[in-house]
Amino acid sequence: MAFENIRLDVDGPQATLTIDRPKSLNALNAATLRELEAALRALAQNEELRALIITGAGEKAFVAGADIAQMASLSTAQARQFSALGHRVLHMLEALSFPTIAAVNGFALGGGCEVALACDLIYASERARFGQPEVGLGVIPGFGGTQRLARLIGRARAMEMIFTGDPIDAAKAKEIGLVLEVVPAEKLLEHCRGIAAKIALKGPVAVAQAKRAIQFGLDADLRSANELERQAFAMLFGTEDQREGMKAFLEKRAPSFKGR
Ligand code: CAA
Repeated sequence: MAFENIRLDVDGPQATLTIDRPKSLNALNAATLRELEAALRALAQNEELRALIITGAGEKAFVAGADIAQMASLSTAQARQFSALGHRVLHMLEALSFPTIAAVNGFALGGGCEVALACDLIYASERARFGQPEVGLGVIPGFGGTQRLARLIGRARAMEMIFTGDPIDAAKAKEIGLVLEVVPAEKLLEHCRGIAAKIALKGPVAVAQAKRAIQFGLDADLRSANELERQAFAMLFGTEDQREGMKAFLEKRAPSFKGR
């Protein structure tokens, strides 16, 4: 697949998607979002994949936001379409059956912070800066930021970030639970690949069901959410992976999962 604004590398069970428009600090224009949509569609169909890492090209930015030059002249109707495109792409990202990891290597502002928020796990380099500066441009986050940020870090902290527009550094992002770990810039991808490799050794159907139970359960009441967990737990006892996983434990050897 040939892309202009992103790079997609698949290495066995891991894929790395790099947003690659360094001249605009990897800002997301409509063309880049459409490329992401195509890449995510392809990734969703790849049954060998166990994890996806998303990062930004260059040393400065993960993604510095939606492309302001392109947004500046949008009409109301066009703005709705642009926001819908961003929502669609980030829903696709969130809906991948395997875990997704944001490797935040620099500025993750506006739409960039929103890309990270749509990933399951966020790791950052010391250079990372997170922010939702949209109100300073006379708009609000339009790729899910008002919703996912509040769900992840809580209402008041999300409101503070969105109302003031002030970026926060990686250490602060870790302190408030936005980021899991802060690692030196040169070690960030290696760290994320290590996490992806660890996940790839586990039962793929189990990991996918765990992701689903957590995602859907968080939007449901506890009783319904536990019912979801119960169904998934029971279903896994019909998989070869469950038999292999438990047999391997009892035989004191490493399991060899097949993803079925
Ligand atoms: N859109 C378009 N171009 C952008 C951009 C963006 N979001 N962010 C940076 N760029 C461009 C700059 O215009 C500049 O281009 P030129 O060299 O052609 O002038 C180039 O990238 C380098 O940027 P700077 O010279 O500004 O670099 P800096 O180191 O001085 O500052 C920065 C870095 C603080 C990230 C600054 O670029 C910045 O504030 N960027 C905008 C951040 C922002 O407001 N993002 C939110 C966008 S709105 C949004 O995302 C809405 C939504 O939710 C959907």
